[in-house]
Amino acid sequence: MKITVIGGTGLIGSQLVTRLRDAGHEVVPASLSSGVDLLTGAGLDKALEGAETVVNVTNSPTFDRDSLAFFRTTVGNLLTAGEQAGVRHQVALSIVGVDQVPQLDYYRAKTLQEELLREGPAAYSVVRATQFFEFMDATMSWTSDDREVRLPATRTQPIATADVVAALADVTTGTPLNGILDVAGPDVLPLDELGRITLAARQDPRPVVTDPRAGLFAAVDGDVLIAGPGARIAPTHYRDWLAAASAR
Ligand SMILES: NC(=O)c1ccc[n+]([C@@H]2O[C@H](COP(=O)([O-])OP(=O)(O)OC[C@H]3O[C@@H](n4cnc5c(N)ncnc54)[C@H](OP(=O)(O)O)[C@@H]3O)[C@@H](O)[C@H]2O)c1
Repeated sequence: MKITVIGGTGLIGSQLVTRLRDAGHEVVPASLSSGVDLLTGAGLDKALEGAETVVNVTNSPTFDRDSLAFFRTTVGNLLTAGEQAGVRHQVALSIVGVDQVPQLDYYRAKTLQEELLREGPAAYSVVRATQFFEFMDATMSWTSDDREVRLPATRTQPIATADVVAALADVTTGTPLNGILDVAGPDVLPLDELGRITLAARQDPRPVVTDPRAGLFAAVDGDVLIAGPGARIAPTHYRDWLAAASAR
């Protein structure tokens, strides 16, 4: 199967390209650095030539209000170019609970991405993943200083990106869902506890102070970030992943 991965150099995209190629598919990675700009459409027609399926794993450069314009424009361009190129299946990576946090600009932008796909001309699949293990450092950096890390006790169900990629590859090469699949890690953990586990694994002595107002995820209530019924539950536990990462 010929598959174009838009965002093929990113954290998810680069792993997905390798996994699909290892499974014997013809894969075209496309992104800004290979001359394909989803914002302007430059290079898109060539990147989609002969592709049966396109996977969109791009990301907006900011998480603020500008992300709405980014996803509106880029998804519009990809749907139009895909239709012209005869793409039969459009796949996108989104976030578990994304439509239940309208107070976050970035989540509204990702919800818009899903809506555009649903209303678009092609068969589609949305894979919604929970927070990536690899994203924990960035999350802590927003609300850390030399003395302490502040995090809310927001309930999360984080996942390794390798497990996201495995699910995304299965969906990409399968029959279009014309719907949503949730994928999540095996453990539900409050974000402040995840911070403590992370610092302990790195022998970082700073305390994690539970702060219901700290950072992006402070805006999220209850179990919004927890996968729903029917989710694909991934095998990798955060503690094992941390131990493997520090042994490398
Ligand atoms: N972080 C999380 O916990 C989480 C959870 C669930 C879902 N997600 C979703 O996962 C997706 C992928 O995230 P990621 O961390 O893999 O992203 P990433 O590492 O930041 O990679 C972004 C990719 O988008 C490409 N790109 C950016 N602007 C572009 C443009 N105008 N035209 C073409 N390509 C463009 C980049 O290309 P260059 O490298 O060439 O510049 C890069 O390949 C995101 O949509 C995000 O919402 C994230």
